Amino acid sequence: MKAGFLQYNPAYLKVGQNLDEAAKLIGTADADLIVLPELFASGYFFQSKDDLARVAEEIPSGPTCRALQEWSQNTNTTFVAGLPEKAGDQVFNSAVVVRPNGSCSTYRKVHLFYEETRWFSPGNLGFPVFEETDREGNRYRLGVMICFDWYFPEAARSLALGGADVIAHPSNLVRKDCPRAMPIRALENHVFTITANRIGEERKGEERLAFIGQSLICDPNGNVLVQAGRDDTALSIADISPVEARNRRITAHNDLFADRRPSSYRG
Ligand code: ACM
Repeated sequence: MKAGFLQYNPAYLKVGQNLDEAAKLIGTADADLIVLPELFASGYFFQSKDDLARVAEEIPSGPTCRALQEWSQNTNTTFVAGLPEKAGDQVFNSAVVVRPNGSCSTYRKVHLFYEETRWFSPGNLGFPVFEETDREGNRYRLGVMICFDWYFPEAARSLALGGADVIAHPSNLVRKDCPRAMPIRALENHVFTITANRIGEERKGEERLAFIGQSLICDPNGNVLVQAGRDDTALSIADISPVEARNRRITAHNDLFADRRPSSYRG
């Protein structure tokens, strides 16, 4: 199947403008699965609760989710994309999986980064794994984690133990380490990973967050299949075969998961 990411530079709080730009970049993409960045249409570096309240939306009735449903139907592509989710009086930093049949599933970011802890509630849905079907009718299992979740190996491990073949990873990375770490997350869990980062910068007073691009797709052997540059606007797509993730026999005598010894581990 064909899987990819969109890397671009959304403008703070300009949801309509960002959705128009993302729609143009996606165009008539030929892909089974496309991952977009964390908070891809709202911007990231919130200045106040009021700013966040202006763009937080309910799933699936909000404008971002509805746009994703439209793109998904038009292109026959499944999208994974980050958005600020309003749920009662809480707001979550969430990602939705949106399918061509209009259905929608949600992951809520568990590990909040930096000032996100001021605005968002930590995710309360665990690390769900979703059953998906590509355009040829082949089934695969999709896990989602968001940005800073990468720093906690338990996140990708939970998804892999839950059966994920592919981990979609919407991101707004500002630290340089993640593009080096993701091949290892893919290798140690024997899964495909798709990290969709953004570019550009956002400011609050004197403070500046510069997003590092370098979105990447890794295979279960830790190889980087495609990677965007630091400042590129890019829709990049790779051929992946999710069944490759299912055989965790790494030598004639070792199976990556059967060889785990949880009774010897702390935490
Ligand atoms: C991050 O979690 N946005 C770094």
